[in-house]
This record gives sequence, C-alpha cells and structure tokens, in this order.
Amino acid sequence: MTDTAKTYPPSAEMAAAAHADKATYDQMYADSVKDPAAFWGEQGKRLQWMKPYSKVKNVTYEYPDVSIKWYEDGTLNVAANCIDRHLEERGDQTAIIWEPDSPEDEAKHITYKQLHRSVCRFANVLKELGVEKGDRVVLYMPMIPEAAYAMLACARIGAIHSIVFAGFSPDALAARINGSEAKVLITADEAPRGGRNTALKVNADKAFETVEHKCKMLVVQRTGADVAMENERDFWLHEVEGDVSDDCPPEEMNAEDPLFILYTSGSTGMPKGVVHTSGGYLVYAAMTHQYTFDYHDGDVYWCTADVGWVTGHSYIVYGPLANGATTLMFEGVPTYPDAGRFWAVCEKHKVNQFYTAPTAIRALMGKGPEFVEPYDLSSLKVLGTVGEPINPEAWNWYNDVVGKGRAPIVDTWWQTETGGHLLTPLPGATTTKPGSATLPFFGIEPVILEAESGAEISSTEAEGVLCIRDSWPGQMRTVWGDHKRFVSTYFEQYKGYYFTGDGCRRDADGYYWITGRVDDVINVSGHRMGTAEVESALVAHPKVAEAAVVGYPHDIKGQGIYAYVTLMAGEAADEDLRKELETWVRKEIGPIAKPDLIQFAPGLPKTRSGKIMRRILRKVAEDDFGSLGDTSTLAEPEVVDDLIANRMNRK
Ligand code: WT7
Repeated sequence: MTDTAKTYPPSAEMAAAAHADKATYDQMYADSVKDPAAFWGEQGKRLQWMKPYSKVKNVTYEYPDVSIKWYEDGTLNVAANCIDRHLEERGDQTAIIWEPDSPEDEAKHITYKQLHRSVCRFANVLKELGVEKGDRVVLYMPMIPEAAYAMLACARIGAIHSIVFAGFSPDALAARINGSEAKVLITADEAPRGGRNTALKVNADKAFETVEHKCKMLVVQRTGADVAMENERDFWLHEVEGDVSDDCPPEEMNAEDPLFILYTSGSTGMPKGVVHTSGGYLVYAAMTHQYTFDYHDGDVYWCTADVGWVTGHSYIVYGPLANGATTLMFEGVPTYPDAGRFWAVCEKHKVNQFYTAPTAIRALMGKGPEFVEPYDLSSLKVLGTVGEPINPEAWNWYNDVVGKGRAPIVDTWWQTETGGHLLTPLPGATTTKPGSATLPFFGIEPVILEAESGAEISSTEAEGVLCIRDSWPGQMRTVWGDHKRFVSTYFEQYKGYYFTGDGCRRDADGYYWITGRVDDVINVSGHRMGTAEVESALVAHPKVAEAAVVGYPHDIKGQGIYAYVTLMAGEAADEDLRKELETWVRKEIGPIAKPDLIQFAPGLPKTRSGKIMRRILRKVAEDDFGSLGDTSTLAEPEVVDDLIANRMNRK
C-alpha cells in the first residue's frame, strides 16, 4: 500500500531560491482575487506592447451574453515577444534544443538570433504563398524546429495557426482544414517517431481529396523520402525559402486578435475549435511557465508533449520563449531506443525542469528502475505532470526513482480551454500530496458545485463538479465559427461560472483532487476523446448498426476505450470483424482512438424513450456489474444479461 497521507513540504533551500515561497504565494494569491484588474494589469507588463493597454479586464459570464476580453485596447506581436525583445540581451543564448528521434543523430542548438532569422524567413515564405493577417494556416508536422518556426511565423504576420496532431488521420486533418478554410497546410515528407516514419505528405494528399476550397501545401524536408508534389499547389520550404529576405517586421496585433485555433473533443458532436487570442494568452502562458516550474534564467527546460496538443503550444513554445528560456523539443518517444531515453536526454542536456504525462511515467515505471539508474539526473530541480490524474504509485516512483526525493513534483491541472495551469503546486511554496493538483494558481477561484442542483458547496470539504468563478487572461474566447456552442458548452448548465467538465473533491486542507470527467469525454493516455466521435466512426462502417463507447480503468493509459457494437442483421461477429473495426477507427480518427476492447452486443440497454443507459455500460466495462442500480426502466432489461455474460474486461 502506498502512503497517500504523506505530504511533501518544499525544502528550505527551494523555498529560499524560488520565485515564490509560501508567504509570497499567499499574499499574491489574495491580491490576485481581491483586485484582478490591478493584479493582471501589473502582470501584463511582463510583455512588450506596441501600444499599451489602458483597460485590463472586460468580462461577463452572464448567460447568454458571455464575452471575455483582456487588455482589449493594447497591441503587440506574440512572435516579437518570444524572439525579438530577447535579442539584445540573449541573442546568442540557446532558445531551442532539438533532440532528434534517433540518439545517433545530432541534436541542434538554436540561438535566439538563429530563431529570429528562421522565423522571419518562414514568415516571408508564408507571405509568398499569399498568407495575410487573419488567414488560417494548418500545421501537420513532426516535432522538428520547423514546427516552432511555423507557429511563430504565423504569429509574426498575424495569421492564425491550427495544429493537427501528426497522429491524426487524413479524414480528421481534412475536417480541420475545411473547418477553418485554411489557406495553407504546412507539413513534412515524413515524421520519424520511435524508429518508424509516418508518411505525413501521403496523408496530407489523402486529406486534400476532400478539401473543397483552394489550399496550398508547404512541405518541409525531414527524411528526404520520395514524395509526390503537385504543381502550383505543393511547395518545398527549402525551395521557396531560397528567394526570401531575412527581414520580416512583426505585424501589430490587437490583444484580442486570435493567435491560434486548436481542436479538442467534447461530450457531444465533433471536436470544436478552441480559440485563443494574443495578449492575455501570452501573459498567462509566460507567468505560469515561470512560477509553476520555477524557471530561472539559464535553466534548461523540457516538456515532452507534442506541439499538436495545447501543452506543446503553451509549454514548449509560447510560455518558455516569452520568458527567454531554453526549451527542449524532442522528436521521439519515451521507449526508443529503450525505456531509458527520457533520462538519457535529461543527462545529455542537463535538464533542470522536466514535464511529462502520468501515462508515460506509468509505462516507464513498468520497465523497472534499471532504465533510470544509469543516468546522472542531478540537474533536475522540478518534475511536472499533466493530462490526467496521477495515481500515488506513479507519483511516488517519479519522486523517488527519478527525482531522488530532491525535485518537487508539480501536478498541473488545466485544459485546452484554459490556456495554462489553473490548479498546480508552486515548487517553493506548496506542500504537495501525491495525487492532488493542490491549490489554485494566481487569479483562479475554483468552486465546487452540487452536480444536480448547481448549488455552490461552501464548506472546505466538498465533492462535486469543478467550476471557475471568474475569468483569467489565458481563457479561451470562443469556439471557432460557433460562439453559441462556446456559450452552451461552458456557461449554460451552471450559470455565472465556467464549467470545466471535471469532477473534483476538496479536502479538509482546501486541496483539490480531480476525480475525472463528468461528461462523455474520456482520457486515454492523456489524450482527450469524445465517446461520440468514436461512436460515429464505428457506425460509419457498413456492417455496424449501432455503437456505444465508454471508458474503463486501464493500468497504463489511465482509461481504455471500450466499444459495444451491434451489427447489421446477418453479419457475423467474429475476430476478423473485430480487427477490421479496429483498423477502421484508426483510419477514421487515428491510432489513439483505436478501441481497446470491442464487445459485440445483440442490443444496447436503452430507456423506453430510446436513450442509451451509459451508466450500465460503464459498470459492465469496469467489470463491476454487481451494482448496476435500477434497470427496471429499461425497454428490454434482458439485454443486460447478455452484456454481462459476454463482457470483455474480466479481472
Ligand atoms: C482534461 C483536459 C491541459 C493539457 C493536457 C490535457 C484532464 C489534465 C490533469 C491533472 C487530473 C487532468 C482533465 C481535464 N487533466 N490535467 N493534472 N489531473 N486531470 O488537455 O486535452 O484539454 O484535457 O484533462 O480531465 O479536463 P485536454
């Protein structure tokens, strides 16, 4: 049994050296919620503004007129804040360390000066291709420096980027290109990961078969694979770049101009385009990066996420670079060439802050400490986790085996929608408890509501749904092209609050413990997925009549995908079809959506009005069918017996 009651106060040394000790945190937090406009007005000064703001906050959560604006009359350029303003002081400092997939290949060290040149040139290439301020550019990229250049190049000319994770299928890519009517898709010939190459250009070509508007393709050469290029439509970066200048003045942008769109899954329908804007987002990403990781000048910081997720946006690119940091970008996977790769890279580049996901920690924990022990990890000062609740066993392993008890763990809770950390310990300030994201960041007022009534639970100890009382600068502003959906998803059910979709418990010390999603969103290896998306992929298969998808506890992934499938009359439920459906979902959405378990069911449990009773499906998937509750309201109660008899997850 793990001792979950044990708590871990910051060391005196850490508290003394950190940006915030407990007294500072307490004081700053109190100030931040007492007068948010004054607090964030002051914090806004961490950026360089072209025209300073006079108005800090203009927010209403009033349903249905939700409107969120920060620094609304200020202007700035995000790329200039991440690059140009550092040139004088740290032009020769490394901005990005790039570690390739194969340890045999050479790492790159890119200085701020070099970054400036590459981003300006990239921006001029985009202009050559006709990209203008306000246009959308989709990225479908390997984890290479050009991905960061492309993001910053968009920001420099005021184009809005929308990154699609390179593991997504051509169909998913096409939907996002169409959804934002992108002018250019930036991709690469191939993406090497774990010794295997994904054919990005081939996928992009497939996606373009269903792109309805005129869209160009800019291709980065990564592996040199032989790929087909279509005349007038496809362009090699290195060819167009030959003719462009090193100079590209940054566009003056309003604080509320969109910086990027990032699609994320919800409980209903297809993924929605989360919109983040320029000023507030960057203030929040920079401040959280500095405080949560206790980043100091000269530190080497590594976040293992992919730029296809919000973690890569805020904590590989924007937050660190806004702080003039050295940020490490890793192309590979934790287990290639073996399960020691993370630690080899930490030793090689003397990483000070390391940020990864519980699923990776659990997978590496399973391989044994012998993959960690050979490496000198004495440079590590702070260890971060993100993406899903971390179980205390994994927390303790991270703390003991990786951090040797010397590096505080920051369990950061946040979402694509929040732009940056909302609940997190600060290394020098917060006593941690394994499994708890602890306390709110500055300016964040978490509230716990009773799920049914929506009543706020004011006692310290509480359990219910997690909402946030007021706005913070990094909050999403709208859903791309669908502001109504933004309002109804986050502000309708619990009026006057931002609804996170997560369940949460607050303990007697006021610490927050995320208990998981309360909607039909599942979290597989830290990747968020709507059960509705997987269902709609399954029912698109000609042999499938109906499908229902739920999550179930999975030792490594956190949650696995459990699909109940009803076939068309006359179709045979066999192993071949099971394999075929797995491949089908991989193709429709991408490998991360492949069901772990598929149960063929002659019928699904439904109410008399035809609503699928997911509660029952979840219980059966958890192998916990002793407590199914009342099934008498079902249209056909006997389908449950069949579900139980043929359940796939037997403990
Ligand atoms: C959902 C958001 C934010 C970057 C990665 C995921 C879950 C995230 C934690 C954590 C417990 C967590 C929540 C949240 N989640 N971090 N530290 N502890 N749960 O972003 O894809 O938008 O998913 O991930 O359920 O709502 P995302």
